[in-house]
Amino acid sequence: MKILVTGGTGYIGSHTCVELLENGYEVVIVDNLVNSKREVVDYIKEITNKDVTFYEGDVCDKELMRKIFKENAIDAVIHFAGLKAVGESVQKPLMYYRNNIDSTLTLCEVMDEVGCRKIVFSSSATVYGSPKSLPIKEDFPLSTTNPYGSTKLYIEGILRDLYTSNNDWSIALLRYFNPIGAHKSGLIGENPNDIPNNLMPYIVKVATKELEILSVYGNDYDTKDGTGVRDYIHVVDLAKAHVKAIEKVLKDRGVDAYNLGTGHGYSVLEIVETFKRVNNIDVPYKIVGRRPGDIAACYADPSYAKEKLGWEAEKEIDEMCKDSYNFVKQHKG
Ligand code: NAD
Ligand code: WQD
Repeated sequence: MKILVTGGTGYIGSHTCVELLENGYEVVIVDNLVNSKREVVDYIKEITNKDVTFYEGDVCDKELMRKIFKENAIDAVIHFAGLKAVGESVQKPLMYYRNNIDSTLTLCEVMDEVGCRKIVFSSSATVYGSPKSLPIKEDFPLSTTNPYGSTKLYIEGILRDLYTSNNDWSIALLRYFNPIGAHKSGLIGENPNDIPNNLMPYIVKVATKELEILSVYGNDYDTKDGTGVRDYIHVVDLAKAHVKAIEKVLKDRGVDAYNLGTGHGYSVLEIVETFKRVNNIDVPYKIVGRRPGDIAACYADPSYAKEKLGWEAEKEIDEMCKDSYNFVKQHKG
């Protein structure tokens, strides 16, 4: 079976390519490298000892997408390609709507043309907005607070409409909680060039002394220690869920959404303390005001993914913190 992975050189995409290859799938990647590097293709090959077909280009480029489907007998698609920085999306909403929605429309149009109607889409827990209770279940009301989140919610709607129009489609909407960690090899992981927005990449850069101090955004939330609580999930567990989702869309038809989280919430300070302990390194921090748009707590009820996909997260927070640091240490020069 041959899987097209859009955004396959990115953080979650690269780990998913490894899992697909290790489970006997052939992989074709398309990525325009706006937020990843070409050498990731070589790392994927090195880890798996398997070959990968790589196209450098934009998923919004319809002729390129037609060419890819013509040159490869694609059985299903995993669609990771997209821009993901929440703050930037507030500054540049048109860029986010254009890239994330246009790429999905173009991809689906070409899939429809060639009769490949099986797709796994990278959605996000951000579609739950500020949840009314915890843990979050898939049937909770959906809303968003920024253009990035809106692109995810609109795309979910577009894909649902597509299934309504033609029941031949088979669509999995995967709502990720907070992916962290990296592959054990230390070859692939997350190491943004810019100042990171997310907690774990920021902690890692403070640990390596590229950044001076972590700002903890608020300690007056109604949580165990006042700091924000999230459901952190190891990226390799997340990648494994995509293999299960591919099995599901290859087998069945329909459209369904799945929470991909561990079901456990950790506070910012718990993450900092765990990171310090398992890596035996200091992470200086200061408490500052709340970050606009943040919610107090967010964690998944992941039981639907277990029931329907036969998947559940296995890796614990210690391993997530160790692997995040290991990747960056190995990539420092
Ligand atoms: P990433 O930025 O590392 O990977 C996305 C990849 O898509 C990058 O390699 C980028 O170069 C590529 N890309 C972007 N636009 C493209 C286009 N038009 N054509 C071709 N390639 C394009 O991000 P990630 O963390 O791996 O996230 C993957 C997906 O999961 C994204 O859709 C993201 O919104 C979603 N997601 C991520 C998180 C998270 O916290 N990392 C959480 C929920 C959902
Ligand atoms: C986690 C916690 C912060 C940085 C974001 C997106 C979401 C999804 C995942 C894509 C919060 C605190 C953070 C820092 C801090 N992405 N924090 N200091 O906000 O849960 O989710 O990434 O879909 O859409 O919004 O993740 O890692 O930014 O924050 O104190 O320097 O860490 O306040 O409590 P978030 P995060």
